[in-house]
Amino acid sequence: MRLIKVKEGTTILLVPDFSEYFRKGSYDPSRATVFYNPKMEFSRDIGVMVLREIAKNRGNLLICDPLAGMGARGIRYTKEVGGISKCIINDINKSAIPIIMENIKINNLENIVEVECKDANLLLIEHSKRGERFDFIDLDPFGSPVNFFDASIRALKNGGILAFTATDTAPLCGVYQKACFRKYGAISIKTEFCHEVGLRILLGSFVQASIKHDFGVEVLLSYSVDHYFRAYVRLDLGARKADASASLLGYILYCEKCGWRTSTHLNERMINDCPSCLLEVKRVGPLWLGKIANREFLISINNQNISELNTYRRIKKLMDLLIEECEMPITYFSVDRICSRLKISPPPISSIIEKLRGMGYRASRTHFNSKGFKTEAPMEMIVDIILRR
Ligand SMILES: C[S@@+](CC[C@H](N)C(=O)[O-])C[C@H]1O[C@@H](n2cnc3c(N)ncnc32)[C@H](O)[C@@H]1O
Ligand SMILES: [Zn+2]
Repeated sequence: MRLIKVKEGTTILLVPDFSEYFRKGSYDPSRATVFYNPKMEFSRDIGVMVLREIAKNRGNLLICDPLAGMGARGIRYTKEVGGISKCIINDINKSAIPIIMENIKINNLENIVEVECKDANLLLIEHSKRGERFDFIDLDPFGSPVNFFDASIRALKNGGILAFTATDTAPLCGVYQKACFRKYGAISIKTEFCHEVGLRILLGSFVQASIKHDFGVEVLLSYSVDHYFRAYVRLDLGARKADASASLLGYILYCEKCGWRTSTHLNERMINDCPSCLLEVKRVGPLWLGKIANREFLISINNQNISELNTYRRIKKLMDLLIEECEMPITYFSVDRICSRLKISPPPISSIIEKLRGMGYRASRTHFNSKGFKTEAPMEMIVDIILRR
């Protein structure tokens, strides 16, 4: 395996030479002996920003990168965040270990970073004792993170933060519904707002894992981009906090014919039929009905000076959208889908949002879909505004 040097943020990394792993015109990281995906630099950059924010309030951080590949996350966090007293980097792949070691050396982090080559669940459980637990764990698996939720929750301090990635978007977005039920115990749907459904099923499944341990969950930041979902959640111990999180689980009810939708909490009466067409609605979930991000946290992150990060323009765009949408109602509308039902050409989204706001409704764009918008206005009003353009 030939290695090359890349620079992410202020960190130099030795990584497998991508040019050896091209398939059908694009780089396929799963073919490399040791995993590195240059496209995930955006996700790692955001990880650095989140951890910088966390480090402002928690000193001497003990962090863990249990599914590390060649160690990009753990090494970057330790080098670029500051305030980290110890980082454990782990990967089950023996071939990854010499590369991780070399990366630690070239970044002068030998005194802070330790390396392990174990099953991630085993490593995390070894750190589940009081005094051994982490302030921050970053779960970055192939596919779904669910198999690592339980051990991660046990290995986190009270008030600790877990980051997780899910790349199994096809099950979560309703393409493979049986696989979604197997992994997440939820019914997904392939529909105009399927990316929000996918993210909320993922978060809902994490909340269900946390409340078993009497942890309440606060979602600091979560999003859907490219081929993956990503979340940063804070865990706080207490049966009442866990109950409060449990009360934010529920279902989305959706009419496939007219697009009408609503959400319902687990203890509420289910609506079976669409009030407009009287057809049976689809029940999607259980899923997370709480906020997908904490607005103050986003604003604070957005104020960081991140000019050294290669993806800063894209980050700024995502953060601005999330700040705009994070307190808006659940689900979004697709202007293309509404207009295809109405058999008309779609107007610009900005004009729809402007008109809805002009009528006193809250309305915003959404990061989930560039042709999507969120609003509290009823379906008839949205259709009316589009038809009257
Ligand atoms: C998606 S890659 C990680 C990429 C890395 N975090 C990055 O940002 O470059 C997933 C990694 O998990 C490792 N892995 C898979 N199953 C594991 C397990 N049970 N325990 C520890 N590592 C595991 C794989 O060897 C692979 O390197
Ligand atoms: Zn309907």
